[in-house]
Amino acid sequence: MLFKRKRKESTGRIVVAGDNVPVGRCGYDRLRDNVLFMNADGTTKAIQIESAVSDEGKTTTACNLAVSLGQSGKKTVVVELDFHHPKAHRVLKVAGGTGIAEYILGTADKSDIIKHTEYPYVDIVTRGAAIDNPPLVYMSEKFKSFMTELKDTYDYVILDCAPILQSSDYIHISEVSDGVLFLAAHSRTTRSQVEDAVKELGKNGIKILGSVFTMYNPKKNPEYRSMYGYYDYQPEQEEPEDGLNNIKNETSEDKLS
Ligand SMILES: Nc1ncnc2c1ncn2[C@@H]1O[C@H](COP(=O)(O)OP(=O)(O)OP(=O)(O)O)[C@@H](O)[C@H]1O
Ligand SMILES: [Mg+2]
Repeated sequence: MLFKRKRKESTGRIVVAGDNVPVGRCGYDRLRDNVLFMNADGTTKAIQIESAVSDEGKTTTACNLAVSLGQSGKKTVVVELDFHHPKAHRVLKVAGGTGIAEYILGTADKSDIIKHTEYPYVDIVTRGAAIDNPPLVYMSEKFKSFMTELKDTYDYVILDCAPILQSSDYIHISEVSDGVLFLAAHSRTTRSQVEDAVKELGKNGIKILGSVFTMYNPKKNPEYRSMYGYYDYQPEQEEPEDGLNNIKNETSEDKLS
């Protein structure tokens, strides 16, 4: 029998907390420090995490940044706004359960969908049930006022989003965010994908707060330490092999390296 091969759903993990915090955690901590500095005047607290395509480390970065902010005593909430692949609750080890979908439908209260995590000062708002038409949620007054309340309640609101080139959700989300943190992954994203995504943001007048280069191995590429502000590193993966390095129909020269 022939089965259709399912896309492997892998999730990131928290590397900035726990017993064996790796050396690479400083990438997320440096990112946190930049975020804290950027928000010195209190106007940059809702941060939209974006990248051109999938699997560039958005959810992993969103959650590690949130935990790192929490470790600094900043009350932080991650909002699962990738309605297509909501994975942040798994990274933060919280049950999906009811979420934004149920709140918008009126079958759940705010208190049901804001969930504490095991990490100090870090909460999460989960997506809940699948949402057929995400723009209808983003455009609703109920969603907008909920986001305003989160901004009033928390020091930081980290919005984990879907990739720019795969959905136009980012346009709606930008209405409730203070700007975009744009990620690009080493050996994964092509230059043209990054250019296209940045053009999309520019076309829609969306502010880019900063950029993060993910998934390269600083041991192998020590020169990047000075070229880029942040790096992150997952110790169990010495190098981002397989899916991360192999994109069909594109030459390796196209990839960010
Ligand atoms: N810095 C990193 N180094 C190596 N692997 C990473 C890194 N960050 C994330 N990953 C791995 O890459 C995969 C995708 O990560 P993640 O889910 O964070 O990406 P994403 O951009 O949110 O993807 P999607 O667009 O599908 O939501 C996961 O298996 C995760 O463990
Ligand atoms: Mg994601």
